[in-house]
Amino acid sequence: MSEFFFEVRTFAAPMKSNARQVGAVTESFRVGIDSQPALRHQSHMKLISGTAVAEKVIEECRREIAELATAGKKPGLAVVLVGDDPASRAYVRSKDKKCRDLGLHSVKLELPASTTQEELLAHVQSLNNDPTIHGILVQSPPPPHIDEAAIVRAIDPAKDVDGFHPINVAKLALEDSSGFVPCTPLGCQRLLIDAGIETKGANVVVLGRSMIVGKPMALLLMAKGIGGDATVTVAHSRTKDLPSITRQADIIIAAIGRPEFLKAEHVREGAVVIDVGINRVEAPDTAKGYKLVGDVAFDEVAPKCSAITPVPGGVGPMTIAMLMANTIKACKQS
Ligand code: GUN
Repeated sequence: MSEFFFEVRTFAAPMKSNARQVGAVTESFRVGIDSQPALRHQSHMKLISGTAVAEKVIEECRREIAELATAGKKPGLAVVLVGDDPASRAYVRSKDKKCRDLGLHSVKLELPASTTQEELLAHVQSLNNDPTIHGILVQSPPPPHIDEAAIVRAIDPAKDVDGFHPINVAKLALEDSSGFVPCTPLGCQRLLIDAGIETKGANVVVLGRSMIVGKPMALLLMAKGIGGDATVTVAHSRTKDLPSITRQADIIIAAIGRPEFLKAEHVREGAVVIDVGINRVEAPDTAKGYKLVGDVAFDEVAPKCSAITPVPGGVGPMTIAMLMANTIKACKQS
């Protein structure tokens, strides 16, 4: 049984999954079912722990950082936040904290919402020229007066650990592994691989077409090799008859940015669901006054799934772990 799965409960749902699962996890699971006739028509839903896989990635990072240290190199990351959006501020702080925990060089620039385009460009230029900085990330979204595309283009592509620069987008499409892949889809792919979920030949529906998640996710899944070779459909807010499309999916990646959007009617029995959403919704009875929910209506979708990620504790920790991995890669390539 993989350490990255938690068996949640047994549901009386027929096994129809085409999402082939590989590795020790599913082998033992299937053997268990085949040897017990009473369970033959039941499906076990697995909760994929992003927290556990992220910890494994972080351990790999620790080893690489130690190796770089012997060569006198220390990866450095600069995270830039413009404005005071509370969610963005929380993300930036946790990125900075993870860097410090790992012993990376970390620069956190928190700039006022009144920062001009020219001032922000000047900060990016100075980070481009700083030899102690190997990765630069400008937290998205910036305030409306900032031309985000121009800022992204101003970042040195060799330091673009977000993978948003056109050079890195092109490298992903060209399957050139020297480029940087956006951290969230890279984390989703790593989750699928570590959970032993076979993507080769699988029908995958990516729900959402953003530059941060949907588009790079589709490119990664259709690329050749491990964690790829999938047949990918990208659906979005203008897609007609969405349930008929998502019900064809062996794997659904929900990245539409709407709280609890994906319902049981969208998912067929035995599908794998990766929930990218992190939405703050009001919860007056909690201390913070809000709670985090994903893009998936977990309680009604989970019983139909062969595997699903939770929110929190799913894709979120993977995004930060892959940012650390990308920063180390940038340092190695520098
Ligand atoms: N905002 C939400 N996700 C991301 C991300 O991965 N990178 C940046 N720069 N901003 C984000």
